[in-house]
Amino acid sequence: MPRWQGAIVVGASSGIGEAIARELAANGTPVALLGRRIERINDICRDINARSGTEIASPFQADVRDWRMTGGLFASITERIPTVDLLVYAAGVMPAREPERQTPGDVDAIETNLTGAVAWINEAVMQFTKRGRGTVVGISSVAGDRGRRGNPVYNATKAALSVYLESLRARLSATGVNVVTVKPGFVRTAIIGTRAVFPPAASAQSAARDTLRAAERGARVAYVPWWWHPIVLLMRLVPAPIMERLPI
Ligand SMILES: NC(=O)c1ccc[n+]([C@@H]2O[C@H](COP(=O)([O-])OP(=O)(O)OC[C@H]3O[C@@H](n4cnc5c(N)ncnc54)[C@H](OP(=O)(O)O)[C@@H]3O)[C@@H](O)[C@H]2O)c1
Repeated sequence: MPRWQGAIVVGASSGIGEAIARELAANGTPVALLGRRIERINDICRDINARSGTEIASPFQADVRDWRMTGGLFASITERIPTVDLLVYAAGVMPAREPERQTPGDVDAIETNLTGAVAWINEAVMQFTKRGRGTVVGISSVAGDRGRRGNPVYNATKAALSVYLESLRARLSATGVNVVTVKPGFVRTAIIGTRAVFPPAASAQSAARDTLRAAERGARVAYVPWWWHPIVLLMRLVPAPIMERLPI
């Protein structure tokens, strides 16, 4: 028996979102895959459906920055998958590091990582509260736990997303709708490319499995892998004058 009746993965054309969609389908959950690169989404769905022998995966093109399209698109998805009880928001971009300048990349990151997240998560919450159940998973990041010199706008969007999810969890605590905040550390996907990182990056597949386990147990906040939690606790203790000098 699959754990979920139907799922939507926003940002499923690569990386963690793709791995989550594949894992869900492998466990028998009908899943809608969303992203801008529709050819990739179509290819992934064809591959998933060929492996499962059923039309378990459905492709949808979406640019999350067009937040006004969210309601209509959600309705189209539920025509295909009538009972959606899981939404995973995995869409995200990390802009180039140019904090001193006003760059389109900064706005893009705010719209993708935050505005789009709020639009999709709000839509799911409206549908889930009507039925009194459902789970929303937001893929935030350890990057939102402490400001660093590396990527100010990315850090800020993830901090805002984490606080938004925390607030939503408080608001929905008596409704039967779960809100799960997932905070990955480094994961080997296009977003970090081939950059050498320390601690070593997890695979997208293991991050996906950890994310779905957190959703299944209704965790409030899950670090992925778990050992990022003590690392973040230590990072919070680093005095600001030292933190400001760290080249990360
Ligand atoms: N990799 C890491 O080390 C790491 C660490 C912490 C958190 N995260 C977070 O994990 C999430 C997934 O990232 P990833 O690592 O799997 O990177 P990725 O492979 O680059 O995946 C990013 C996904 O976001 C989608 N996306 C980006 N802009 C979009 C838009 N405007 N509309 C719709 N979809 C959009 C992309 O699809 P299209 O390009 O097809 O639209 C893609 O499916 C992100 O939120 C990221 O911030 C990653």
